[in-house]
Amino acid sequence: MTKTQAGQITRYFQDRAPKSIREAIEAAGKDDILSDTYPYDEQMSSKDYDKAMEALQIELVKMQAWVKESGARIAIVFEGRDAAGKGGTISRFRQNLNPRGARVVALGKPTEAERTQWYFQRYIQHLPAAGEIVFFDRSWYNRGVVEHVFGWCTPQEREHFFRQALPFEHALIEDGIHLFKFWLNVGRAEQLHRFLARENDPLKSWKLSPVDVAGLDKWDEYTGAISETLTRSHSKRSPWTVVRSDDKKRARIAAIQTVLSTIDYDDKDTKALGRIDSAICGGPDIWD
Ligand code: ADP
Ligand code: MLT
Repeated sequence: MTKTQAGQITRYFQDRAPKSIREAIEAAGKDDILSDTYPYDEQMSSKDYDKAMEALQIELVKMQAWVKESGARIAIVFEGRDAAGKGGTISRFRQNLNPRGARVVALGKPTEAERTQWYFQRYIQHLPAAGEIVFFDRSWYNRGVVEHVFGWCTPQEREHFFRQALPFEHALIEDGIHLFKFWLNVGRAEQLHRFLARENDPLKSWKLSPVDVAGLDKWDEYTGAISETLTRSHSKRSPWTVVRSDDKKRARIAAIQTVLSTIDYDDKDTKALGRIDSAICGGPDIWD
């Protein structure tokens, strides 16, 4: 895939973006939510966010202490379209944690040797040992979505993947790993808005990849691949948690709440967790 060229996102925005998307971006005020199916018009206020986040950070620190003491293992998968907010959510999880014991795994494209291995093999070595929390910024679900959309795997390889994904995850869970799977769902206008911001910010432009640029014209292909993936890899034991992430603040809070409310760590302050907002966080049925 060719390198990202300067101005590619802006050109897409001006020349090819669907009119409704362009208009939504042009009309948006600072705190407006761009998706018209999102349950709120505006982002959460920074004041409310900071207050909720501070309480959650304290609980995360307690959770990590418990993980270390008890030897628990936690693996948290973050998936979603480009610019859905995976990286930012992971940073908020890790903000006050001891980095030793709270690793991020963000693997690049598979090497030649890895391509000849069992598909899950390169991920297995990164699974948590006792006392560890591992954050997967993208995961084996590349095969369900991005590899399929760009034709990097064959249909047979993808079928094989779907046959093995849940049994693979069930085996991890049976072995005692606490596994979470988050699907961050971002709307089309919001995604493009974030891409434009990245293109215009030297501190963020590294986040923009040729895959993101080529993906601009593949929104619908992604939609089909995501829908199929969520359906075929959701089970009672290994469920997807879909988090609508058009508002990054609400999304980060809901993801952290989901983990904290599931894990039975010592000294939990249930009141501090607050209530998970079911309008933006739920099962695959809230994905659209
Ligand atoms: P990210 O959004 O994680 O910063 P990219 O948008 O560049 O990364 O790529 C999306 C995903 O596709 C990454 O997980 C990357 O490793 C994977 N990928 C890129 N090129 C290939 C390829 N040729 N074959 C398989 N996977 C690839
Ligand atoms: C995200 O924002 O979801 C990822 O961390 C970065 C990206 O999508 O390129």
